[in-house]
Amino acid sequence: MSSKQVICGFITLVLILSHSFMLEAQLQVGFYAGSCNLAEFIVKQEVRNALIRDKGVAAGLVRMHFHDCFVRGCDGSVLIDSTPSNTAEKDSPANNPSLRGFEVIDSAKARLEAICQGVVSCADILAFAARDSVEITGGFGYDVPAGRRDGRISLASEIPANLPPPTFNVDQLTRNFANKGFTQDEMVTLSGGHTIGRSHCASFSNRLYSFNSTTGQDPSLDPIYAAQLKQQCPQGSSNTNLVVPMNPSSPTITDVGYYRDIIANRGLFSSDQTLLTNTATATQVTQNAQNPFIWRSKFAAAMVKMGRIEVLTGNAGEIRAKCRVING
Ligand code: HEM
Ligand SMILES: *[C@@H]1O[C@H](CO)[C@@H](O)[C@H](O)[C@H]1NC(C)=O
Repeated sequence: MSSKQVICGFITLVLILSHSFMLEAQLQVGFYAGSCNLAEFIVKQEVRNALIRDKGVAAGLVRMHFHDCFVRGCDGSVLIDSTPSNTAEKDSPANNPSLRGFEVIDSAKARLEAICQGVVSCADILAFAARDSVEITGGFGYDVPAGRRDGRISLASEIPANLPPPTFNVDQLTRNFANKGFTQDEMVTLSGGHTIGRSHCASFSNRLYSFNSTTGQDPSLDPIYAAQLKQQCPQGSSNTNLVVPMNPSSPTITDVGYYRDIIANRGLFSSDQTLLTNTATATQVTQNAQNPFIWRSKFAAAMVKMGRIEVLTGNAGEIRAKCRVING
């Protein structure tokens, strides 16, 4: 063999190996079929049990998956507890005290470690739990490609550059979601996550009392709804635990009520109501409101896409033993 042939052979080998490595590193539906057959079943059981006690936890888990994926990819970084030397994502003001459902992930993880130790990642458990939450609350179920690995870094300081605040306008939201690979249409679709759950008063009270330097109440908010919200969220209340339902007509059902609210000027956040201020997004809002079936399937597809953001696969990262702490 000439040295040219050897080099050619070597390059071919590298290409084949890297190709098969890439295939191996893709997320796969049924990833745990051989290694931990009951993984998805057990997560679903834990989600079901939690929802019997508190239906609102479904919203918490859907939001938690979103907050995981938008910060450092879907690597379970949102689950990691702070330490004396590190303030983790979950203790950013965007997550603490509002994010909920951590105990569901913990209990699913404990059961999975007992039957297949070190196999199922926390990032996958969260992706399954979010899917189950959508499905149990009336959205479409969908297959979750799995094989995510858990990250070892979680920094509260990374939240502001990655998670959109409720004050964002449509252009800011479009840019934020484009940074994560989403179209504007997908941004509108995913915003429909606000069809379930609740919000703390602090997340929108600026719209009731301190909109800008000249106007107290946001004129884009339906005045009757604003009056109700003011009763539920009194100005200057020191009670930071006060919450109101999102999509008050059906706050535990994954339906298109969110879009109907917006059309009625009853979007809770500026980031919801702003979808009516742009021709393209307003059209999507109307279409989603009128086509519940289509929105449910677009939402399922967008959740799958969200679950692929910057995932760790193959030998990257680790399989955490406990979702709250990186392995020692
Ligand atoms: C478009 C930009 C978004 C903004 C600005 C935003 C902002 C917020 C805020 C401020 C809250 C209330 C937190 C609180 O005070 O308790 C909230 C709740 C929630 N968000 Fe979003 N969000 C966005 C997108 C999403 C997406 C893409 C999803 C999921 C697909 C989602 C799912 C939820 C859910 C389910 C809740 C209720 C949580 C609970 O009841 O515990 N959000 N969001
Ligand atoms: C405050 O908001 C109102 C209503 O949107 C608007 O008309 C006004 O120009 C704003 N004022 C300032 C100072 O931004």
